Amino acid sequence: MPSQIGAVAFDAYGTLFDVHSVAAECERCFPGLGARFSALWRTKQLEYTWLKSLMGRYEAFEAITRAAAKTAAANLGLELSHATLEQLMRAYDRLCLFPDAKEALASLDRHRRAILSNGSPRMLDAVVSNSGLGTLLDRVLSAHEAGIFKPHPSVYALVCTAFALQPGAVAFVSSNFWDVAGASSFGFRTFWINRTQSPPEELGCQPTAVLTSLTELASRLAG
Ligand code: LAC
Repeated sequence: MPSQIGAVAFDAYGTLFDVHSVAAECERCFPGLGARFSALWRTKQLEYTWLKSLMGRYEAFEAITRAAAKTAAANLGLELSHATLEQLMRAYDRLCLFPDAKEALASLDRHRRAILSNGSPRMLDAVVSNSGLGTLLDRVLSAHEAGIFKPHPSVYALVCTAFALQPGAVAFVSSNFWDVAGASSFGFRTFWINRTQSPPEELGCQPTAVLTSLTELASRLAG
């Protein structure tokens, strides 16, 4: 098992970018129901990535995100016009960074740094560009290259291919426990960013470490 970490890969949505920072846009579109819509939108988005992968019917994350918004609106009895959907999708390209994201990436400058996300290449390019994170990343890797979504092993393998590393030489960082479990199962060293003090999922795979913020990463990796 390689002792050194050769690269650090980060999940994007929910880890570096706050998916619920579109809640304000959702509230403007659906006064009084913005938070419920935002939460159901994210839930459906994740569910659809898992279901489409299991069905062998991969579709780009952008299309899935649109479909999830339509289902969330239908479940809440909301009218979602094409114009409103596009307004929400544009907000998704401008998600806020979590406050600890830039400092954490900057503190890891002696490592090669990447995003590994289910996001479509265009969506990731937009949100990385709009956030100014590009200068702190060596690669932006999308599940689109694998034609299936995390937690399928072939998505995590993209990091090993990109940096010519064994799985044990990669540190993977995510706030989504299911993603950490998939990465742990693949063989990465994994760091679960548990900002909400949630209980772990019973998936038979544990993270290498549990952190409450990205800030702790540099010291943990040095350790
Ligand atoms: C991602 C989502 C699943 O960025 O969090 O891959």
